[in-house]
Amino acid sequence: MPSLFDPLTLRGVTLRNRIGMSPMCQYSATGGQANNWHLVHCGSRAVGGVGLVVVEATAVTPQGRISPYDLGLWNDAQVEPLARIVRFADEHGAVTGIQLAHAGRKASTRRPWEGGATAPVTEGGWEDVMAPSAVPFTDGHLVPQALDRAGIAGIVRAFTDAARRARAAGMRVIELHAAHGYLMHQFLSPLSNQRTDEYGGSFENRTRLVREVAQSVRAVWPEKLPLFVRLSATDWTEGGWDVPQTVELSRLLKEDGIDLIDCSSGGNVSGARIPFGPGYQVPFAEQVRREAGIATAAVGLITEAAQADEIIKSGRADLVLLARELLRDPHWPLHAAQQLGHGEPWPAQYLRAAPKGTVPVRKGP
Ligand SMILES: Cc1cc2nc3c(=O)[nH]c(=O)nc-3n(C[C@H](O)[C@H](O)[C@H](O)COP(=O)(O)O)c2cc1C
Repeated sequence: MPSLFDPLTLRGVTLRNRIGMSPMCQYSATGGQANNWHLVHCGSRAVGGVGLVVVEATAVTPQGRISPYDLGLWNDAQVEPLARIVRFADEHGAVTGIQLAHAGRKASTRRPWEGGATAPVTEGGWEDVMAPSAVPFTDGHLVPQALDRAGIAGIVRAFTDAARRARAAGMRVIELHAAHGYLMHQFLSPLSNQRTDEYGGSFENRTRLVREVAQSVRAVWPEKLPLFVRLSATDWTEGGWDVPQTVELSRLLKEDGIDLIDCSSGGNVSGARIPFGPGYQVPFAEQVRREAGIATAAVGLITEAAQADEIIKSGRADLVLLARELLRDPHWPLHAAQQLGHGEPWPAQYLRAAPKGTVPVRKGP
C-alpha cells in the first residue's frame, strides 16, 4: 500500500503526494472574480507542500452563489484571475483543481461572519433562488422556486460551460459539488426533492441531475484529466440520503467517467445530529472505495500526520483532504513529512528554516 507521501496518479495527472487542500469558500470575491486573497490563500498551501489545491466552491451561475462574495465561472472575465493561481501553484509543484457548484435553495446568504442569514437585495442578494422543490432549507431561508425542465437543462449547461472555462484557466482537476445540501445534493435527498417528474421519486430519478452533469462535463473535460464528485454520504437523518445510496451512485458515476469520490457528509438538514470526531467521515471513504471500486478522498477532522498516513497506508482512501488544519498551518505537509521521516523538498527561499540536511530543494520560478 502507498503512504501519505507517495505520488498519486489519476488519468494523466500525478500529484506529488496524497495531501490536498479541501475547497474552502473565502467569501472574498467581487463579481465572482478571484483576487489577491485567493492567490495567497491557495498559493501558500502550494508552497506548504500539498499535492493538490482545490479552489473553493465556484458558482456556475450568479444565482448559484452561496453569498454575493463567492467565486464564479459564469463569464470569461473570471478565467484569468484563476489562471494566475494555477500558474503560481504549478511553479511550486502543486496541481490545481476547482470545485464547481450551485447552491440551490441555500443561495443568497450573508457571509458566515455576518451571521449567514438571507442577504437582502440591498446587500447584493437575490430572490430568484432555485431548487428541486419549493421547500426552504430552514424557516429563515428563502422559499425556492422549483426548477422546470428548461431550468434543469440550463443548470447542466452552466456546469458544462464552467468546466470549459476551468480548462481555459489551466485547471487540471474538477470537483463537482454534490454535497453539503447544495443543489445537486438537494436533488439526491428525498427530504429536499419532492418532485413527481423524472427528476424525483425513485433513486434513478433523484440521481438523474448529478449523472447528467457528470456526463456532460466529462464530454468537454479532457480525457487525460480527472474528474471528482463530492458527495455527502449521509444526511444523518431518517428518510434522507444515506450510505447505501452513496455507494450505488458512486458505482454509476464511475461508469459516467468520474475518477474519485470525495466523501463528506451532512449539510442538507438543519440541526442533524452529527457524531463529529477525529476522522469521523473516513469510514465512508473506505466503504465507497471498497464497494464501488472507485478512488476516494477522505475529509473531516484529519489533523495529525500519523492519522493521515494511516488512512492511506491501510487503503481506506487514496487521498486525504484537509481544510481547517491547513488554515492553522499552511505548511502542514512539510511538518508532516518531517514527523514521518520523509524528505519532502522545501522551497529554496525557506531552506534556512528546514530541518537539517533537507534535500533536494524545491526551486522557485
Ligand atoms: C472556511 C471553510 C469554507 C468551506 N468551504 C467549502 C467549500 O467551498 N466547498 C466544500 O465542499 N466544502 C467547504 N468546506 C468544508 C471543507 O472542505 C471540509 O470538508 C470540512 O471543513 C471538514 O474538513 P476539516 O475538518 O479538515 O476542516 C469549508 C470549510 C471551511 C472551514
